[in-house]
Amino acid sequence: MRMVDLIEKKRDGFPLTNEEIKYIIENYVNKSIPDYQMSSLLMAIYFQGMTNKESSALTKAILNSGEIIDLSIIDGIKVDKHSTGGVGDKTTLVLGPLVASCGAKVAKLSGRGLGHTGGTLDKLESIDGLSINIEINDFIKQVNEIGLAVAGQTAKVTPADKLLYALRDVTATVPSIPLIASSIMSKKLASGSDVIILDVKIGEGAFMKTIEDARELSKIMVNIGTSFNKKVVAFITDMSQPLGFSVGNRLEVKEAIETLKGNGPDDLTELCVEIGSYMVYSGGITQTLEEAKKLILEKLNNNEAYAKQMEFIKYQGGTIKDLNTFINVKEIIEVKSNETGYVKEIDALAIGIGAMKLGAGRETKEDSIDPDVGIILNKKVGNQVTKGETLALLYNNKENIENIIDEVLNAFVITKEKVEKKPIILEIITE
Ligand code: URA
Repeated sequence: MRMVDLIEKKRDGFPLTNEEIKYIIENYVNKSIPDYQMSSLLMAIYFQGMTNKESSALTKAILNSGEIIDLSIIDGIKVDKHSTGGVGDKTTLVLGPLVASCGAKVAKLSGRGLGHTGGTLDKLESIDGLSINIEINDFIKQVNEIGLAVAGQTAKVTPADKLLYALRDVTATVPSIPLIASSIMSKKLASGSDVIILDVKIGEGAFMKTIEDARELSKIMVNIGTSFNKKVVAFITDMSQPLGFSVGNRLEVKEAIETLKGNGPDDLTELCVEIGSYMVYSGGITQTLEEAKKLILEKLNNNEAYAKQMEFIKYQGGTIKDLNTFINVKEIIEVKSNETGYVKEIDALAIGIGAMKLGAGRETKEDSIDPDVGIILNKKVGNQVTKGETLALLYNNKENIENIIDEVLNAFVITKEKVEKKPIILEIITE
């Protein structure tokens, strides 16, 4: 087989066979295929797309480039969730304990944040003492004992994805739906769970900008999951404003804890109840989705989900002595509205970048983060606001942040006309 022939085939719109895709990935990882040929193929895929069969073959080839975690010695059905990345997205911190308190098994490998989106590992590590470096045997023991463990993904999982992602990043080929689908699904399949619930975000600051693209990505990922005998459900959800009120590591941990106590923001609570119900039902805990939802609401109301969160934090070495003194910053700055009207939009990308600039996120992989800083929104889409009212609070430890204050202020689009609240869940795609 010659790579140049395969590039030509894809360039001219013909589908590649399973063997050809396997050949490409194996030889790219072992460096027999150079970056310039791989770049050319990626661009051909960007323009020509891939069939479902090709997307599954690509996922399989990326999956087989590294370690696949074997969770079969954990009793029961293992459930996982994945979000395509958003601002203020602390759903794992809520959903893990929530569905584990219902009896489902959650063995979760998570990532770090980069740029405007936060990462679950950074949020968890903002808790004093909590470790996400867990040996695989201890990880399995923990899931068997308390139903939930969250650890960092090792470099041995899907090395082909790391190489391909770095190349896509510098060749303008990230926003290709089959490439995104196989990148996400290879990592999820390598993590070994039986059920995968996907949260595909739409909006500024999300990978998908339109419902049509989100639907196409969701369908491909569900199809890939089915071809690997996994149960996959995709939620398409709104990211035209940050999720919940808080953006920033400790701020989000605190909001997740409040949510588990039943005092969370409406959008975050609704999203976690709905996704959690699918996780519990697909995890075989209940016979129907309705029973799963009833169980989820019961665990939120009777404090068992909160107790599971505390058990999980303690098991991984973390302590939160007092939630009231958990967050310590030099100052809290109020960002006030210049206008009277209704909040129409809150640019999630701008809020994410604002939080990153305060120190809550990383601009480059090497940056360190400040766990205490971030942004709390005081208003959400649909809320009425009067001139001089506080739109957001900036938890700050830096000097000279006038530009960040302006950027956060400009993230709020305020209109004179009344604005309806936006639904958080737009569509659910099943097999
Ligand atoms: N997330 C991933 O893991 N991969 C992509 O290609 C895009 C988003």
